[in-house]
Amino acid sequence: MDRTLVLLKPDAIQRGLVGNIIGRLEARGLKIVGLRFLQVDRPLAERHYAVHQARPFYAGLVDFITSGPIVALALEGRNAVDAVRATMGATDAAKAAPGTIRGDLGIDLGHNLIHGSDSAETAVNELKLFFPEGLVDYARALDGWITEA
Ligand code: RTP
Ligand code: MG
Repeated sequence: MDRTLVLLKPDAIQRGLVGNIIGRLEARGLKIVGLRFLQVDRPLAERHYAVHQARPFYAGLVDFITSGPIVALALEGRNAVDAVRATMGATDAAKAAPGTIRGDLGIDLGHNLIHGSDSAETAVNELKLFFPEGLVDYARALDGWITEA
């Protein structure tokens, strides 16, 4: 099983879309193994977005993710990174396919509601950043109905 980090960005909280978005990810079969509601400070934002440091949109990215509280989620499931990315939809919500979170709920590139790790390797590092205390291991009775052995 794979794990990935999801952030519900400040626009998702301000627009009251937390339940809707988490519901879509849960319904996909992904298991919640970590959940936090927090205000990101600048040092954490800068570490999380370090890969984008040289990009022209970096300063705006850090400003936005620190502009209000967020929800951090650790999700587990088969191919969790790709499953989350597919469920999120394209980065630019205006171009994201209907049926995806961004395509159904958003229309902007910067205010695109959600972050998902882009590889298994990135996920390990991002999960450590947002869940330094570790994640919760448990079994669900229906896991065998979601993925074949
Ligand atoms: P995310 O990291 O948020 O899951 O999104 P992503 O992988 O689809 O996009 P990424 O390339 O990692 O970019 C991170 C965030 O930066 C904003 N962005 N702005 N102005 C621009 O050209 C531009 N490009 C990206 C987006 O909000 C994106 O989610
Ligand atoms: Mg990314």
